[in-house]
Parts: sequence; C-alpha cells; structure tokens
Amino acid sequence: MARLLSIGAGHVGLPLSLKFWSVGHHVDLVDIDAAKIDALSAGRMPFLEEGCAGVLSDAAHDPRFQPMTYADIRFAEAVAAADYIVMTLGTPLGGDYTFRFDQYFDVLVRIVPLLSRGVTLVVRSTVAPLFTRNVVTARIAAERDWIPGTDFFPTFCPERLMQGSALQDIDDLPEIIGADDEESARRAEALFLSLGDHKRCLRLTTVEAELGKLFLNTYRYTLFGLANEFALTAEQYGADIFNILTAANEAYPRGGIPRPGPSRGPCLGKDTAALAFSTPGGLIAHAALKTNENLVLHAATDLRAALGTFAHKRVAVLGLAFKADTDDVRDNLTHPLVNLLEREGATTVVYDPLVPGYDDSAVLASCDAIVLMTAHSVFRSWREEELLWLCARPRDEVFVFDLWNIWPWADRIFGKGTDDHYEDPGHGGERLAHARGDSAASV
Ligand SMILES: NC(=O)c1ccc[n+]([C@@H]2O[C@H](COP(=O)([O-])OP(=O)(O)OC[C@H]3O[C@@H](n4cnc5c(N)ncnc54)[C@H](O)[C@@H]3O)[C@@H](O)[C@H]2O)c1
Repeated sequence: MARLLSIGAGHVGLPLSLKFWSVGHHVDLVDIDAAKIDALSAGRMPFLEEGCAGVLSDAAHDPRFQPMTYADIRFAEAVAAADYIVMTLGTPLGGDYTFRFDQYFDVLVRIVPLLSRGVTLVVRSTVAPLFTRNVVTARIAAERDWIPGTDFFPTFCPERLMQGSALQDIDDLPEIIGADDEESARRAEALFLSLGDHKRCLRLTTVEAELGKLFLNTYRYTLFGLANEFALTAEQYGADIFNILTAANEAYPRGGIPRPGPSRGPCLGKDTAALAFSTPGGLIAHAALKTNENLVLHAATDLRAALGTFAHKRVAVLGLAFKADTDDVRDNLTHPLVNLLEREGATTVVYDPLVPGYDDSAVLASCDAIVLMTAHSVFRSWREEELLWLCARPRDEVFVFDLWNIWPWADRIFGKGTDDHYEDPGHGGERLAHARGDSAASV
C-alpha cells in the first residue's frame, strides 16, 4: 500500500481521500481551512455527501488517516514521505471568466522544495488546457532541476463525480489518466487500480485529459441549456414541455432530451464559461451559458407579470443550494434571481432547509410569492396546505412559481404554457387568477 498526501479536503478531495484510506493506503490530508480539519479530526463531515459520514467516523480513529493544516509539524514529513500527491484544490472563475489558480500557486510554493525524488503528482481539479504540463510540471522541473518521467511523475486525472453520489461514482467510473510519459501513466494507473479489480483506466496526454473534462461538462451544460430553450419555446406555443419530452424520449434510442430547470453550479456552469472564454470558437458554449443564466430573467419577468409589480412585495425563494439534496451553495442561480427582484423593490427571503443560516421556515410567513429554485426531496414532499400554513396566507394571496415541475398545484410551472400564456402580460391580478383556473376573474 502507498503513502498519499491529499491536498484539499473539499467535495472532491475528501470522498477520494476516504476511498483511498478505505482500501488500505496511508492518507495524510491537508487543507488550509483549520475548522474543516478540526471537524474531520473529530469524525464530523463538513458537508453533506452520501455515505461519507460512516467511512469518516471509522477513519478518524485510524492512524492511517491524518487530517492536518500547514501549521502541523507533520506537514513537511507528509510531503517528503509521499509516494503520491493528489491535488483537488478549488479552481474558481475570476470576473473575466477564466480559472483562478491562486490555490495551486500557494500549494506549489509550499510543497515543491519538500518533494522527494520519485513522487507521483496527480492534478485532480478541473483546470485550463496545458495547466498541468506548462505550470505544474514545468515549475517542478525548473525549481528542482528534475526530469519529468524520471525524477518525478506528473499526471492529470480528472474527477468526474457528481455531488451526492461521490463514493459510488469513484467506484463506478473509469479513470482517465492524463500523462505525457509512460512511467507517469503507469504509476497513476497503479494508484487508481488499487481501488478495486473492477476499475478501468483510459490513457490520454495531460492536455487531452484536461480538454476531455471541459468538453464533458460543457456538453452536459449545453444539453441543459437546450432543454431550457425548448421549455420556453413550448410555453410560447401554449404547450407542455414535460408532455413533449415524455413522448419524444419514450423508447426512442436517439432521444434523451433532459428535463428543463435552473442549472449552474461550480462544475457545469463554471467549466462551460471557462471553455467559452478561452477559445475564440466557443459560440455554442456561450449560448448555453446565456440560455441557462437567462432563466432567472424569464422567471423574474413572469413573476412581475403575475404580481403586477415587485414594489412592496415579499418574495420567498426556496432553495439556495445549486443542486437538490446538497448543501452546496456555490454558483447557484438563487443569488442572481434575488438581485433581480430586489433591484425592483421586492423584499426577498431565502429558505433552504439544508443550508445552515437559511433553514428557518418562519421567513416564509406573509410572503406574496414563492419561487422554487432547488428541487430538494423535502420540497417535493410538501403538499399545498403545508406551504400555505408556512406562509400563513390564504391560497389566493400567494403566487406559487415552480421551476422544477414538482408541485402540480403551483400557479405557474416553468415549461408548462397555457393557450394564452403570453397574451395578457400586463394584468397581474387577472393573470394570476386565470392561471389558477378562476374563470370569473379571467379576461
Ligand atoms: N464538486 C464537484 O462535484 C466537482 C466534480 C468534478 C471536478 N471538480 C473540480 O475539482 C476541484 C475541486 O472542487 P471541490 O468542489 O472539491 O472544491 P472545494 O472548494 O469543495 O474544495 C477545495 C478545498 O481546497 C481547500 N484549499 C483552498 N486553498 C488551499 C490551499 N492553499 N491549500 C490547501 N487547501 C486549500 C479548501 O479549503 C477546500 O476544502 C475544482 O477544480 C472543481 O472544478 C469538482
């Protein structure tokens, strides 16, 4: 079994570290966040991730699992003794839509002088094309006067897990091994094959693997963008996108159009933006970004039409996490929606039972409208009466806008048009009543 140094105990690094520990490796786990390391040392998960809490509660008592910060005197020894260093640092976008590598630059300054000859490096974050070769490999080669593939073994092995099913995905998915020489590829493969006999590895160069990861996320995000565009088109014709998709996808091998809904998050939206803004030909990626992000503009426009005005209105947005049944609020579309509503005078409240600080349902009292942005299971289970009870208002005084098609009783469901959906956008109260089927109040 090998000795690993895992740098970054986030949504990618922590499940992977636990997985490596569970098959018998020694794992030193470093993170800059002392509160996170304290939680891990005490066996507490710092975020929700299916199955991780149980593994961590065992790992936390095992000397083969050592969470630490840089202040720990064991850090230098952990670098020097590592057979493998796996880096899963964050690579957020800057305001110019390009990746920021500050976390990597910080880590390289700390570890390069301490590396031992023979170490294998695995870059596991999502990065810009050529980052592994031109930054990580080149920097170590220059600073240590080492030859890649002989003195050290740099690789890029992208993470393709989905939050919420990280442990399962690490088990199930084949590993893409990006390496620019045979020995580096062989060593990275040996590490991932140690996760189980079922594991398969697929070889690429580092830049091919970097591009492959970006292509996959951009492809997926583009499909979601297309689904959202189809939803708007269906509405325009008074049609129901969900009926259309059910029929179109049914037993049709070339179908598979995804369902519409708000989509962004720290992977799909981020990686699509990074690709779009790093290639002059990225028009489709730009379009996918625009379609997905404009969803909040459409939602705000429809809501304004329903309420007449946002001035003096109290709007509750349900869901801050970017993805259902997670507590991860990074790059959500709730914040942009809230900004749009507030700049037109609405008072907004955000309720998300999974996100500490936003988990008080009392904020829903007296709201004029509810907008569902995240399809958490707990929201799916709500009945109309429960929502009204929380709002403490009669049904005809609360406009319910469901962007995920989980509440058949909502006043407005994104993707479900009515025959006259866009015919009378100026008459808020009448339109609201009409949407509910109140023929006396409809035009
Ligand atoms: N979250 C996903 O589902 C997912 C899936 C595939 C790929 N990715 C990619 O993987 C990478 C990591 O994503 P994530 O979701 O785990 O991010 P994250 O923000 O959850 O984790 C990053 C971790 O690095 C730590 N960190 C920051 N600076 C550090 C430093 N200088 N030294 C040590 N630790 C430091 C942070 O405290 C945090 O714990 C990103 O490039 C992301 O795009 C994420």
